[in-house]
Amino acid sequence: MSRFFTSPREKVGAAADLDTAASGFSRRNLLGGALAGVALATAASSGAATAAVPARKQGSRSMANEPFNQVDTVKIGLIGLGNRGMGMLGSWVSVPGAQVVAVCDIRGDRATRAADRVANAGKPRPREYGGSDASFQKMLDTEELDLVYIATPWEFHHAQGKAALKAGAHVGVELPIATELDELWDLVDTSEQTRKHLFLMENCSYGRNELAMLKMAHDGVFGEITSGHGGYLHDLRSLLFNDGYYTDDWRRIWHTKSVASFYPMHGLAPIAAAMDINRGDRLTTLTATASAPRGLADYRERFVPRDHRSWKEEYINGDLVTCMISTANGRMIRAEHNVSQPRPYSRINTIEGSRGIFEDYVGADATGARVYAEPIHSGDTWRGASALRAEYDHWLWKDLEGPAAGGGHGGMDYILQWRIVQQMRTGQVPDIDVYDSAAWCAPVPLSVASIEKGGRPVEVPDFTRGEWKKLRLGLDSVRTAMPAVV
Ligand SMILES: NC(=O)c1ccc[n+]([C@@H]2O[C@H](COP(=O)([O-])OP(=O)(O)OC[C@H]3O[C@@H](n4cnc5c(N)ncnc54)[C@H](O)[C@@H]3O)[C@@H](O)[C@H]2O)c1
Repeated sequence: MSRFFTSPREKVGAAADLDTAASGFSRRNLLGGALAGVALATAASSGAATAAVPARKQGSRSMANEPFNQVDTVKIGLIGLGNRGMGMLGSWVSVPGAQVVAVCDIRGDRATRAADRVANAGKPRPREYGGSDASFQKMLDTEELDLVYIATPWEFHHAQGKAALKAGAHVGVELPIATELDELWDLVDTSEQTRKHLFLMENCSYGRNELAMLKMAHDGVFGEITSGHGGYLHDLRSLLFNDGYYTDDWRRIWHTKSVASFYPMHGLAPIAAAMDINRGDRLTTLTATASAPRGLADYRERFVPRDHRSWKEEYINGDLVTCMISTANGRMIRAEHNVSQPRPYSRINTIEGSRGIFEDYVGADATGARVYAEPIHSGDTWRGASALRAEYDHWLWKDLEGPAAGGGHGGMDYILQWRIVQQMRTGQVPDIDVYDSAAWCAPVPLSVASIEKGGRPVEVPDFTRGEWKKLRLGLDSVRTAMPAVV
């Protein structure tokens, strides 16, 4: 099998010299060879205007490769204690060295319920903030927090994330970190100014298949990576119309506001990681299409009583919104979003290269994924992914399989939370930074812009302001330990 690099550290070491050739392909081939010609052709023919990159704010500098300031105990404040916030609370309480010191929800009773839960777990009772839309600011003004975790509806993420940065905390924001381009830039700039990290809580990037696929891709199992497909295909219809599930109907209301790929990040981010996006390559242009909006209205027609408030709503977002995204090095990504139609769950999670392919969600064996890679496979027959996944199992899964089993979403939530706390307690560079987060969330506003232009390509801004050319570690990390709690 051709190996590009034998370890993540070796990969970054080699990045300093792009002539360094591992067996098979050299990094020069990977970054500057045949695909670069395709990239030029793509940019020249796209017709997309070059995205404006605003000048860096005075006194600011890049957050790429910036380590967390080291702390022994990570003091955490939570904003938003609905389904997700309460779901993540258990692991914030149980990860070694984390302490939930403050909890906030506009609904004060939810803050009380969260504080009760922490106290019932035998931990010090966090202080409660709630009762108004200013409660989160009061928490930020009052508490000395190392980390703020935000799990409110999408429309609040930008303002709350920015306020938390300005209060001097690092910030983990649920998907997406913001929904407008200027807001994404504002979070990049504020992170650079405050020297605090803001990152997307992209739990699916820590899925066992996703992390093994990433390591296979980096190790050259699929040859030169040329394309990938990911998405968020989840039939949310019953939850969207379930009174009380999404507080004040916030998620259904978004489908009345715009035609957009609201939430492609769970499928896009793992593909972007495998392609070293912002770490050797970058997203350059995006073209979006939307199918007709039928699913939500059809569901309402069949299952929702006529006197329900949703009958005043008109659903305009397309059921399937597809983004085709090209990269500077000539790769293609298809990112999909569909939460409005009947279908089994899938994030697609597929990567293709000159020597093979990985496809998830096809049920080939216990991993749910199948592979085909030369020269280990031949004969035009798919193989279940279990043998390769075992060979490429990420150290986080090898080390944390036991404790992760108690966490949400098959364990990847716990692994994400453990890793953030571990990196803060050891003063490491975060796996996911504000540039990754902004790039992965940019399809939300850019899909709107492309669809408004009748499916014309639009440019993806370079949020790194040129730093993307430097190879650096990310999710394909080197094993380190969690410090003991003293
Ligand atoms: N990563 C994942 O796997 C995952 C899974 C589910 C949800 N999410 C994300 O989590 C976020 C929350 O989703 P949810 O399903 O928990 O929604 P939810 O409606 O259940 O919870 C939102 C909570 O935010 C509170 N809130 C609203 N405005 C507030 C404000 N101004 N200040 C403080 N609190 C406020 C609400 O009272 C509610 O308790 C969304 O961004 C969603 O996309 C992520």
